[in-house]
Amino acid sequence: MAKLTKLSRSVEGKVALITGAGSGMGRATAFVFAEAGAKVVVSDINENQIDEVAKEIDSSEGACLKQVLDVTNQENINEAVTNVIKEFGQLDILVNNAGISIPTTIDDENYEESWDKTFDVLLKGQVNLIRAALPFIRKSDCARIVNISSTEGMGATPRISPYTSAKHGVIGLTRSLAAELGSQGITVNCICPGPINTAMTAAIPTEDKQIYARRRVPLKRYGEPEEVAHMTLSLCLPAASFVNGAVLPVDGGLSIKRA
Ligand code: NAI
Repeated sequence: MAKLTKLSRSVEGKVALITGAGSGMGRATAFVFAEAGAKVVVSDINENQIDEVAKEIDSSEGACLKQVLDVTNQENINEAVTNVIKEFGQLDILVNNAGISIPTTIDDENYEESWDKTFDVLLKGQVNLIRAALPFIRKSDCARIVNISSTEGMGATPRISPYTSAKHGVIGLTRSLAAELGSQGITVNCICPGPINTAMTAAIPTEDKQIYARRRVPLKRYGEPEEVAHMTLSLCLPAASFVNGAVLPVDGGLSIKRA
């Protein structure tokens, strides 16, 4: 019988492109992958932020490429993928993480604008990156796509319908592509973070966060970006080869709590 340890638990030498890596969960993911020996493409629309992240990875002797990348800009996307191949010669892992959140009610004057912007970043950005990266990911012996959705992709809170709709779309996209690309040896999975302490939630007063967490989250707290990053890494290990089309909450139990 084959050894149970034959599946590798290392991403060493794999090339991982992470969007929105300048802050929050993307930043944590870049560090966690670099620490695990992956070559990391730190990409974000915000150049200053990626400079900082890349400096930190460099100083800890990790391999990284910084790449200014607006996921709503097709030219940027093509250029990013070209640069990755130029620098590293391969692309194994794509983490579609970049995100924005625009609170709005359905009858807001600017609703349509918010809808378009939200969908461009959260959903179309993921699709366009997958399409550009696919010819190279296809060649990998550890082909992994992880899309970041949200617990908003599985349920809903009021006054954020473009975000909620787009995050539901990310789950649909993940499942559909998992079915379509599985036969090519590519896994496509999705993580649904619950409330996490990042720039996106920084404006919420601490007391409000505590009240919310005590009421809604069985673990009674917000999560930290690293707690999501480690789950992303797990989905990208060679050993995760039979996990495909999974929709994985990382939410302290929020999504299973009834009252
Ligand atoms: P964050 O605000 O700390 O980081 C988001 C990053 O995305 C920023 O660095 C930003 O510059 C970048 N970004 C924004 N627009 C971009 C674009 N057009 N192209 C490239 N990069 C762009 O937020 P956080 O929380 O780390 O968000 C990461 C992902 O997690 C997002 O998809 C978000 O929707 C999702 N999420 C966040 C939750 C939270 O509680 N913080 C909960 C559930 C999901």
